[in-house]
Amino acid sequence: MRCRLGCMLCLVTSFSVYIGLFLFTWTERSETSSSSIVGPPQGIAWGFRNVYIDQEKAAKRVNEPSHDDNNNNNEASQTKRGDTDTGKHGDDKSLAADEPPPKSFDKDPFGYVTLDGRKALDLHCSQCALISASGQLLNSGSGEDIDNIPCVVRMNQAPTKGFESDVGSKTTIRFTAHSSLPSLMRDPMLMDDVIGRPQYIIFWGPPKEMDSGGSGVVYNEISALSMKYPYINFIVLTNDQYQYAEYVFREETGKDRITSGSWLTTGWFTMILLRNICDSISIYGMVSPGYCQSPTKPDVPYHYFSPNGFKECAQYREHENAKAHGHRFMSEKYVFIRWALTKYNITFHSPEIPLTNLMEFNKPKFLT
Ligand SMILES: *[C@@H]1O[C@H](CO)[C@@H](O)[C@H](O)[C@H]1NC(C)=O
Repeated sequence: MRCRLGCMLCLVTSFSVYIGLFLFTWTERSETSSSSIVGPPQGIAWGFRNVYIDQEKAAKRVNEPSHDDNNNNNEASQTKRGDTDTGKHGDDKSLAADEPPPKSFDKDPFGYVTLDGRKALDLHCSQCALISASGQLLNSGSGEDIDNIPCVVRMNQAPTKGFESDVGSKTTIRFTAHSSLPSLMRDPMLMDDVIGRPQYIIFWGPPKEMDSGGSGVVYNEISALSMKYPYINFIVLTNDQYQYAEYVFREETGKDRITSGSWLTTGWFTMILLRNICDSISIYGMVSPGYCQSPTKPDVPYHYFSPNGFKECAQYREHENAKAHGHRFMSEKYVFIRWALTKYNITFHSPEIPLTNLMEFNKPKFLT
């Protein structure tokens, strides 16, 4: 298993490095094909609107950490793999030369589209529950509360089966990193389980991976996967939407994603969608940004479904301070708290985070 996974990831990464050199332009498909959209659940209004896809020909860096956690093969080991890649492909800063110049936006381009690129997601939820993968959720008993919220959003390969009492059982959206695709393909339960399967699965990935003109290795795999699950709505981020996430990161942290050696988390991409489509967001399983700075706080598994895997705080600390390939978990959380205090109706559960004022929260070093 471990070897197969390793080979797969390696293939995906190295393949795209070479193939990515030959980018095809986006070709608009004809207006005649029909999409395989299922009906909305009760209490959820949605539809699709036609959109014009912005063409982005620039290639983006592919080297993202995998979120695969099976066989204990979680992000820390992926980070090491990433570091090995660094020797081959150069570090984040030298790669910045290959990147298109940072792009600014007046507003969220809302580039969440069907695989054929013809229709945009138009989902609206009165209340969303965002379920983290954190071990904080173990023994939380939050399942019932979560299932009572109209839209439940999960990320990557975080399962429901076997954890229903803590994380709930239904899934409206599964927001997924391109690097988690192998896990989804290996665990059909995530897609087959009638109760737990998502109504929408949304993939984010670097433009090079997600090119729909034939050269996007991940896009092609997603496309093949979608044939197997006609009852799930497959959605991908446009290049603009991907770049918008980096723009928001720059605006909120004052740091450029690439030159600061950072990788955005799936949580970051997910929050950018949710603040757009949810009237309110209840986040389950997020600790406050300062939690892991206190030595008296208990550490829990980084992922609730890998009890013997890496510990959460250990991961957060390692990533927050990494010079390259770092997920800025604590800084992103600090931004979410700031949004909750200033812009959006966001609340935090299991654990509860009392929203007093921003001064009460430790500002992560990355942000200073
Ligand atoms: C925020 O969202 C919660 C949960 O949906 C809701 O009960 C509450 O009234 C909202 N607060 C505001 C100020 O809109």
